[in-house]
Amino acid sequence: MSRVLTIGVDDDLAAAFRANGGAVLALGPAAATDGTALGLLGDADAPALLALGAEVPLPAALALAGQAEVVSSGTSVVLVAFADPDLWKEAMRAGVRDVLSPHADATEIQAVLARATGLAEARRSAPAPVGTPPAPSRRVVVVASPKGGVGKTTVATNLAVGLAAAEPGSTVLVDLDVQFGDVAGALALVPQYTLPDAVLGAASNDPLVLKTYLGRHRSGSYVVAGSDSPVAGDGVSPADVGRLLDMLGREFRYVVVDTAPGLTDHTLTALERATDLVLIGSMDVPGVRGLRKELDVLGQLGLVPARRHLVLNGTDSSGGLEMEDVERTVGGPLDLVLPRHKAVPLSTNTGVPLLEAGGKDPVTRGLRTLVDRIAPPAAPVRGRRARRRAGAR
Ligand SMILES: Nc1ncnc2c1ncn2[C@@H]1O[C@H](COP(=O)(O)OP(=O)(O)O)[C@@H](O)[C@H]1O
Ligand SMILES: [Mg+2]
Repeated sequence: MSRVLTIGVDDDLAAAFRANGGAVLALGPAAATDGTALGLLGDADAPALLALGAEVPLPAALALAGQAEVVSSGTSVVLVAFADPDLWKEAMRAGVRDVLSPHADATEIQAVLARATGLAEARRSAPAPVGTPPAPSRRVVVVASPKGGVGKTTVATNLAVGLAAAEPGSTVLVDLDVQFGDVAGALALVPQYTLPDAVLGAASNDPLVLKTYLGRHRSGSYVVAGSDSPVAGDGVSPADVGRLLDMLGREFRYVVVDTAPGLTDHTLTALERATDLVLIGSMDVPGVRGLRKELDVLGQLGLVPARRHLVLNGTDSSGGLEMEDVERTVGGPLDLVLPRHKAVPLSTNTGVPLLEAGGKDPVTRGLRTLVDRIAPPAAPVRGRRARRRAGAR
């Protein structure tokens, strides 16, 4: 008999699950948000199916679906709602596996239950992903620059969106600009938890708890938003950051780290773990010199990771600088040159990352190239197709 947990579902539907072979525990809507559902999902005998009814507000239902995916990957989350294509899309991205009409007949209910039971059994026999050692192909990508306002957050958020679209569930974005981080704004997220929540208390040493503290962007990327005040950010030590990145590195294939300008202790801690450095400079003399200086210092510290990607952002021809001069000063070829383009501030202001909007402008194209440089060649076909899908939205 399949275990079914219903929350905020009307009595008739709960009875229908029962009539179709489910062992049903029916709870009121508060269980979705007061921790009851999460507790039950974390149990060894977690339900095969979690049905969320109309009495659970949609944002709470979607948030719980995302958490359920993490806490109990063997549980299928079913949303009971009249589904339109937009709701479907949103629900799927949040981790909902089926949307069931409130007027579903016995055949549909039976089918949903059978799918959930099959999936739960398949998951039970698969090895548990949590706590496994880091995959050899994992990447920690640190996005840094000597100066502020040169496009770190733009690049980091788009990298996360691009990598997450290429491989669902693969990516977490961490805002390490501990004082003035704006990742959440760039993604139009209102974070429930922020960096201090993720490094202090129960989340600091338990990957399962940590995952419930992560935000979720509609691209599928998980997000650790920056602290909501500079004072709160000050409470986060470099050691906290190191521990957080180590834990995330075991859980995610891609950890993308946005940083504050310059080489703060937090940035250096992230660089100690980095496989990739995306170093961004602006197209002006101080910007280019700063890039060179930062590379030199990192070289002296032995903190230039194996893969480095030099990016010049906001280029235009009005400053009198030639690309040749820039490359001579930096001491090597640039990997990516992004021109100034009006699509970028528009994206920042609306909170829709360029790779999500899928425009044809040169900055979007450049950012896609950067995603391709970082995504491992092992899954190029799937990655490109998935990204094209994301770009088509
Ligand atoms: N290539 C570009 N063209 C036009 N505006 C850009 C470009 N890159 C970044 N910007 C704008 O510059 C501002 C700072 O970018 P941001 O990514 O927040 O930089 P940082 O994180 O380095 O401070 C944002 O408003 C962004 O829209
Ligand atoms: Mg920034």
